[in-house]
Amino acid sequence: MNNVRVSDGPRRVTILGSTGSVGSNTVDLISRNPAAFVVEALTASSNVEKLAEQARALNARRAVVADERRYGDLKAALSGSGIEIAAGADAVVAAAEAPAEWVMSAIVGAAGLPPTLAAIRRGAVVAFASKECLVCAGDLLMHEVERHGATLLPVDSEHNAIFQVFDFAQPDCIEKIVLTASGGPFREFQREAMARVTPAQAVAHPNWSMGAKISVDSATMMNKGLEVIEAHHLFRMPSERIEVLVHPQSVIHSMVVYVDGSVLAQLGSPDMRTPIAYALGWPRRMAAPSPKLDLARLGRLTFETPDDVRFPALALAREALRLGGGAPTILNAANEVAVSGFLQGEIGFLDIVRSVEEALRVLPHTPPGTLDDVRRLDAETRRVTAEIVKGIAARV
Ligand SMILES: NC(=O)c1ccc[n+]([C@@H]2O[C@H](COP(=O)([O-])OP(=O)(O)OC[C@H]3O[C@@H](n4cnc5c(N)ncnc54)[C@H](OP(=O)(O)O)[C@@H]3O)[C@@H](O)[C@H]2O)c1
Repeated sequence: MNNVRVSDGPRRVTILGSTGSVGSNTVDLISRNPAAFVVEALTASSNVEKLAEQARALNARRAVVADERRYGDLKAALSGSGIEIAAGADAVVAAAEAPAEWVMSAIVGAAGLPPTLAAIRRGAVVAFASKECLVCAGDLLMHEVERHGATLLPVDSEHNAIFQVFDFAQPDCIEKIVLTASGGPFREFQREAMARVTPAQAVAHPNWSMGAKISVDSATMMNKGLEVIEAHHLFRMPSERIEVLVHPQSVIHSMVVYVDGSVLAQLGSPDMRTPIAYALGWPRRMAAPSPKLDLARLGRLTFETPDDVRFPALALAREALRLGGGAPTILNAANEVAVSGFLQGEIGFLDIVRSVEEALRVLPHTPPGTLDDVRRLDAETRRVTAEIVKGIAARV
């Protein structure tokens, strides 16, 4: 970890993806502590109504919408406020370049990569939720973090838990890390029943309230596969030393196992405002309104080994990590396209992982040496997977 200077005054922050689930929770925490933060920029894809409401409530200096067609609506919604506005993907990157010492990276998917890199390249403290960026360009992104002295603070609840109990001074004393997984809404479903589930069932996560894409990833358990790759990069651990354990109550958010047999865990209620508050206040702690944990009331915590037959996505992600080169980039982009196809009713739930498997089979895994290579492979994978999805949809 880098030695970051922490100013005594209010922290200047930018939220990339402020209108989403993680972004809105971040806005909620900031609005409860208005004296502690100055908001430099908020960004969204197209939801200008929510963006404008947040920008006014937090008195942000700038509001940016990625979809250029929504510029006029944003302008109208913020007229008279004095808040600067801009539109387009480049304007989102420019927002990340603006001088905020702390940046929340919460854009869903690989679309978050350019602005997240922009924040990293000016050495910011980056609260990191957008796991797809690390999956599609992990080595390159971590190299940029080191080169520019940036700090990554994991926001994903599992990685945030590990970050809190990981002894960075003696990583050689760590035997393994254990990522917990809720198992998602279909934990007890047989494959035949999963074949018939609807998007509405898949996004209804039993414990967490999240955006649609990550909710579907949790249901297929691809989310845990993406998290294994994320943990590999963040904590420099090989896949064999990253265990996954199904823990349906989502109370233990993850654990670190030390060579002396000690197991350190972080616990809390399943509310993203706890890991977000950890990152927002870091290196100090700040209060969060998450429900307090009542273990006596809970009574029992249970654990299971993941079922690779009913949930093949986890093994597929581990295989992509083992293959290396362009395989994780393909895994991520193919999954984004397939999840979108499922959410739009084009393919069935089980077809998501089938499509990713097929994309990994047909595309060459040439290692992307530069970020332009990542962009090209990502785009080619999206094109090929869209064809795969179309082919499956035609047969349904
Ligand atoms: N939700 C959770 O509890 C949770 C937990 C752990 C990790 N994460 C990770 O955090 C990230 C965000 O998840 P989420 O659940 O908050 O997602 P979400 O609710 O879908 O929100 C996504 C945000 O990104 C914006 N966005 C989408 N596409 C964009 C584009 N092409 N360019 C610029 N902005 C774009 C959206 O704007 P609009 O609102 O205008 O569409 C929205 O602000 C994901 O990587 C997810 O895996 C989430």
